[in-house]
Amino acid sequence: MSEAPLPKTTRSSGELHRWFPENWVDHELLDSGGGARLERFGDIVLIRPEPHAIWQRGMREAEWRRVAAAEFVPTGRTKGHWTPLQSVPDNWEIRYPLATGHALHFSLEMTRFKHVGLFPEQGANWDWIAGRVGAGKRVLNLFAYTGGASLAARATGAEVTHVDAIKQVVTWTRMNMELSGLEGIRWCVEDALKFAEREVRRGNTYDLVIMDPPSWGLGPKGEKWKLEEQVQRLIDGTAALIAPGGAVIMNTYSGLSPSTLENLWSRALPDAGIETGELCLMSGTGQVLPTGSLLRAVRP
Ligand SMILES: C[S@@+](CC[C@H](N)C(=O)[O-])C[C@H]1O[C@@H](n2cnc3c(N)ncnc32)[C@H](O)[C@@H]1O
Repeated sequence: MSEAPLPKTTRSSGELHRWFPENWVDHELLDSGGGARLERFGDIVLIRPEPHAIWQRGMREAEWRRVAAAEFVPTGRTKGHWTPLQSVPDNWEIRYPLATGHALHFSLEMTRFKHVGLFPEQGANWDWIAGRVGAGKRVLNLFAYTGGASLAARATGAEVTHVDAIKQVVTWTRMNMELSGLEGIRWCVEDALKFAEREVRRGNTYDLVIMDPPSWGLGPKGEKWKLEEQVQRLIDGTAALIAPGGAVIMNTYSGLSPSTLENLWSRALPDAGIETGELCLMSGTGQVLPTGSLLRAVRP
C-alpha cells in the first residue's frame, strides 16, 4: 500500500520561538496568575490585570498586596483606575541597558489604560534592532507608542522615523529620547496606514520597518484602524517599503497567532526568511508569561 503524501505546508521556514528580554535590571516579573501580574519597575511594584495568566499564582495573594505600591482596577474593557497601596510617585524613571552598550531611559507613569509607558518584553526586540541597524540605515516605526524600538535604532546612529496617532504619546517619546541622551528622531503624528501608503507612492524604502498595530485605533484625523479588516492592506503596503536585504518586525498584542502573522507575511514577502513566535516574560516564580505574537522577516 502506498503512503499518502504529506499535506503541503505554507510555513516558509523556522520554528515557534519564545523571545525573552535579556538585560533588564530595572524590571522584574515577580509573579503571575489569577488573571494578574505582579511586576517591579525600578523601585515601584505594581499589580495589573493579565488575561493570559489563568494559572495559579506562585506567591500568596497577601504577599502580592504587601509588596505592591498600587493595583490597577479595571472599570471597563480598556479603562480603569489605580488604587494606591503605598505612596506612589506621579512619574519615575527606569533604564534598559542594550547589549550593545547604550542605556535606554524611560519615564513611567500609571495611565488610566493600565499601561505605564513601556512594554518590558519588547527588550528582546530592542536588542535585535540595535544589533541589526547602524549609521546610514533607515528605520520606520509604525504604531510606535513611547518609542523603545525607535530609541534602540537611533542609539546605533540609524535614521529613524517614528509614527503614532497621539501627539501626547509622541511628546512622551521625545522626553525618553532626551533622557536617553539621543536626538534627531523624525516625529510624525499621523495615521500609520496613510503614512505607509504615501511613502510607497513616493518610492521611499527602509532597511527596517517595525510595527505594532493595536486591534483598533484612531488616526489623528479620525481615521479608523481595525486590525482584522486592514491588516493585510497594511502588510502588502509596507512590504513594498522594505529595501532588499531589509527586515520587518511585526508584533501584536491583539490575539493574532504567530502562524497567522506568518501566513500574512509569507504572501507579501514570498522570498523572505521568516521567524515567528511569542514575546514572553519569565516570572520569578517560574512561569513563562506569553505577552504577544512576534514575526521577524528578512528579505534576501
Ligand atoms: C500597542 S501600542 C504599541 C506598543 C509599542 N510596540 C511599544 O513597544 O512601545 C499601539 C500604538 O498605536 C497607536 N495607534 C493607534 N491607532 C493608530 C493609527 N491609526 N495610526 C498610528 N498610530 C496609531 C497608539 O497611539 C499606540 O501608541
